[in-house]
Amino acid sequence: MKKTMLAAIGVLAAGIALAQQAQKPEDLIKFRQAGYKFMAWNTGRIKANLEGSYNKDEVAKAANVIAAVANSGMGALYAPGTDKAVGNAHTHVKPELFTDKEGVGKVAVAFNKEANELAKVAATGDAGAVKVQFGKLVEACKACHKDYRVEEKNEH
Ligand code: HEC
Repeated sequence: MKKTMLAAIGVLAAGIALAQQAQKPEDLIKFRQAGYKFMAWNTGRIKANLEGSYNKDEVAKAANVIAAVANSGMGALYAPGTDKAVGNAHTHVKPELFTDKEGVGKVAVAFNKEANELAKVAATGDAGAVKVQFGKLVEACKACHKDYRVEEKNEH
């Protein structure tokens, strides 16, 4: 019993330490990039299922992750001081993301809507419907990148 309590307190302390570190601009940049990367892994999984043999559970898992990241409030990771490279964190964010609040709000809300809808559709296991909704999600990713992310030379 005592051991469990101590372990629980240990986890709590680690969580608090992490939350404090997260205030550093370079960490915020890394967290948001990690969020996008993790979503990209999951969009890749869905694409592979749509193009190959379709596994309903795989697709549902991936869609749920994307929706969870979309709903996680990533806006908090665009705090002041994260608009340019800091420490060993580089960033591809455009300055407009910090100034065009209305435009960012629009693409972010649209993205969340498509991500949540995809999770719903994926739960039904209807591959045809997933394909249509997946297309809408990817368009929503691109809509934000077009205006608020600097194009990388080696990206398509
Ligand atoms: C609301 C805007 C927005 C949406 C929506 C969005 N992105 Fe991004 N994405 C960005 C910005 C801004 C960056 C650059 C972040 C940085 O470098 O600080 C980025 C970076 C990335 C990166 C590179 C991460 C890295 O390691 O540097 C990938 C991959 C990516 N996004 C994939 C996606 C995918 C896949 C989706 C949709 C499922 C998506 N993004 C949706 C704005 C967005």
